Amino acid sequence: MTRRFYVTTAIYYANDRLHIGHCYEIILADAIARYHRAKGEDVFFLTGTDEHGTKVERRVQALGRDPQGWVDEIAAANQTLFAALGISNDDFIRTSEARHRRAVQRIFAQLHQQGDIYLDRYEGWYCPHEEAFWTETKALPGHLCPECGRPLEWTRETAYRFRLSKYHAQIEALLEQRDFVVPPARRNEALAFVRQGLDDIAVSRAGLQWGIPVPGDPAQTVYVWIDALTNYINALEGQRFARYWPANLHIVGKDIARFHVVIWPALLLALGLPLPGQVCAHGWINLNGERISKSRGNTVDPWTLIDRYGADALRYYLLREVGFGLDCNYTEDALVLRINNDLANDLGNLLSRTTQLINKFAGGAVPDPAGHSDGVLAAAAAAAIAGVEAALTDLKTGEALAALWTLVDRANKYVEEQAPWALAKDPAQAGRLGAVLHDLAEALRITAVALAPFLVAAPGRIYQQLGLAGAPTRWEETAWGRLQPGSQIRRGAPLFPRIEQVSRT
Ligand code: MSP
Repeated sequence: MTRRFYVTTAIYYANDRLHIGHCYEIILADAIARYHRAKGEDVFFLTGTDEHGTKVERRVQALGRDPQGWVDEIAAANQTLFAALGISNDDFIRTSEARHRRAVQRIFAQLHQQGDIYLDRYEGWYCPHEEAFWTETKALPGHLCPECGRPLEWTRETAYRFRLSKYHAQIEALLEQRDFVVPPARRNEALAFVRQGLDDIAVSRAGLQWGIPVPGDPAQTVYVWIDALTNYINALEGQRFARYWPANLHIVGKDIARFHVVIWPALLLALGLPLPGQVCAHGWINLNGERISKSRGNTVDPWTLIDRYGADALRYYLLREVGFGLDCNYTEDALVLRINNDLANDLGNLLSRTTQLINKFAGGAVPDPAGHSDGVLAAAAAAAIAGVEAALTDLKTGEALAALWTLVDRANKYVEEQAPWALAKDPAQAGRLGAVLHDLAEALRITAVALAPFLVAAPGRIYQQLGLAGAPTRWEETAWGRLQPGSQIRRGAPLFPRIEQVSRT
């Protein structure tokens, strides 16, 4: 039976456009989705926009805009950006869509009816930035938000609350499972939080205009977590639910990991639904040591980088440079270094040299190795692919690409060692010359197949230059020996032109 694989990103607040921190998350999820598809799995990859709540309401008020018009614009802009980045999501859920609103109201009503949600007069410390209530004990001294450090506001209101406390033992047991949350640092954090005890949480607010009304009580609006988190099931209408739920993997940033590993499983337990397989919490993209964020105003616009360097270069940089779970300091210099060293020099030159050598010494057709191969590149390819696979099971895209580059490096070195131009001078070495050229082309073909989860345009362009049709799609094509001798080389433009100067924005 075909394995199903359901992967999600967070849904992005529609208060502003996305920056490269968000791009990292969606590109990471895309690489994982593409890898599983290449493995022949039945993949569903979901992303979307989180369009309600005070963040958006405040923003549209400041701009004097109508909320729906504003979020329509942001959702469209995000989708255009995702298309430019080659994101292969299967659906895009917007929390202002009718399918989502209906489902949230149904879920709210069910939880209320069964007693997991109750009406309460609520008093507490509220962080408008994080949209979270905090008890006296959890607030930092001076009544600052334990999450973002901003001043909390004492808020008094009537609100519906969810009985999170009831699920305390189950959540603790879930977190004790080693692999529900990765990396372990996030699991330990969440466990420490849960062991302090869980308070019931407010799941509605009065006086919020822009949101989903509580069924039967229009003075109250469903807010934040029931609205946002349930997107993961609300996108699975009809047949899709049975086919894809529970999700295999939720990919989120470390700042929202806790909501996904405490509140989300508790909601699912209350709904009697199976729990997701794993929550992976990635680190932050920082700029000058500070998290890139719209509210800090230190954003880096992905469009500038796409226009300047192309989507593949940006994808490569983020997937190669960010260690899973760790923060990464973004600099344009580091991006240009990756383009010049890894993409232009290592990979681009290997393709250029190989196709040039085949044109020159084999009349432009991939030779038949005919028993003359020394097996060096076949062994290097097998080791590299095994390395990519091992790294990707842990979402370690940087290690995966490093493993793949051991093959690229080995092949470049092989050109020097074997010196085809010298072999060509000796007719007795014709068999060896053919095998060397074949093995180089084959190493490149395998590199293209293994690159397909990570990069969008380059794998097809490598295929084309090797005389192959289309673009690689199936992971099993990473097996050695699939390149047909006789394939006609079609040299093309350099795969990644060198960047001579780093522009500064
Ligand atoms: N809307 C909520 C998520 C609800 S999910 C049910 C939210 N939105 S967000 O737009 O603020 O963030 C969306 C995702 O982007 C989060 O996973 C967050 O961690 C990630 N990132 C935001 N800034 C980031 C960086 N600077 N670096 C890496 N990821 C970043 O939270």
